Amino acid sequence: MLKANQDYLKLPGSYLFSTVAKKQREFQEKNPERSVIRLSIGDVTQPIAPVIIEALHRAVDEMATAEGFHGYAPDLGYEFLRSAIAENDYKARGCDIEPDEIFVSDGAKGDCGNIQEIFDRNCRVAVCDPVYPVYVDTNVMAGRTGSYDEKSGVWSDVIYMPCLKENNFAPLFPEEKPDLIYLCFPNNPTGAAVTKAQLQAWVDYAKRNKAVIIYDAAYEAYISEEDVPHSIYECEGAESCAIEIRSFSKNAGFTGLRLGYTVIPKALEADGVKLHALWARRHGTKYNGAPYIIQRAGEAVYSPAGKEQLKDQVAYYMKNAAYIREGLTEAGYTVSGGVNAPYIWLETPDGMSSWEFFDLLLEKAGVVGTPGSGFGPSGEHYFRLTAFGSFENTVEAIKRIKEM
Ligand code: MLT
Repeated sequence: MLKANQDYLKLPGSYLFSTVAKKQREFQEKNPERSVIRLSIGDVTQPIAPVIIEALHRAVDEMATAEGFHGYAPDLGYEFLRSAIAENDYKARGCDIEPDEIFVSDGAKGDCGNIQEIFDRNCRVAVCDPVYPVYVDTNVMAGRTGSYDEKSGVWSDVIYMPCLKENNFAPLFPEEKPDLIYLCFPNNPTGAAVTKAQLQAWVDYAKRNKAVIIYDAAYEAYISEEDVPHSIYECEGAESCAIEIRSFSKNAGFTGLRLGYTVIPKALEADGVKLHALWARRHGTKYNGAPYIIQRAGEAVYSPAGKEQLKDQVAYYMKNAAYIREGLTEAGYTVSGGVNAPYIWLETPDGMSSWEFFDLLLEKAGVVGTPGSGFGPSGEHYFRLTAFGSFENTVEAIKRIKEM
């Protein structure tokens, strides 16, 4: 009998950011005269940097010539981009990552969701709680998470690592032994960061337990403190226990262009199998590569002018982050994040639930944020605002929240 994938049917509701967008749309339809400021999804708002636009134009023009035309991209991505990544994101930080350990893709979200495919269905998955929903939802789709308890918001076969105020929103080692550990630092949604020593402890833990860490470093460009690692490969031994996923969305504004990459060191094995070879097989079979013109745009990110222009862009968003942090603190909120990350994590006032606060903020201030509970049970009574709005909108949003 024809049946739909039963694992998909286990997913509760819709994807978090689709629910938030739907609620915003409904509010706007009912209140067309109200101006609504969106500080919910972590989508950038500033135009693409000039040097990247020039690279895009050049690549488009090349495609119009017989000599410059490019069809399917190489499986791993163009060498010019992988070399620039290896040089700038890794070797410059003392990490021993080679260009052929880098797989270019059309964005980190897809890689975060797909990477679980190269692991056994019975692997035990550990996630931070709260967590970027993609890690959990894609493991649900793969049938790895057991059953869902509606009341607690917990999957029976997932190991949750609560990230609480008491630990500065960093996870502790779980009691149960995981096979796959998802870590994201600087963190989405809490905006927290870990020190190099803390991350080294996770690498040592993974090696001791023969586990693999999937390290999402999408927000590394926002690190402002010295002791915070930009890559997990800054930690000793990480090449044999960690996969790293990176994005061009947050550091260079590619949310609409789409570009990211995954690093799988050749030294990384699961039960004697080289994971690099498996991901290469998957990439080759299911994927035809990020477009040439976008990879050329990615290359421009690493040019001297690109680095300068993007430093300014990151500083622009971090000015918003500081503005939100300070404004909310003045208004009496308990706030964290926003120092090494573009996310501000606040406690809801008066014990309100995250969704109650979402409704209040939308109704009273016309500001859309993201309810902490949407990221997992430990996110309840928290709320996330992003620094990716325009400065003007950020100022207006904080003014309205203060007047609430
Ligand atoms: C977020 O708002 O958490 C992110 O923008 C989602 C994403 O990057 O996919």
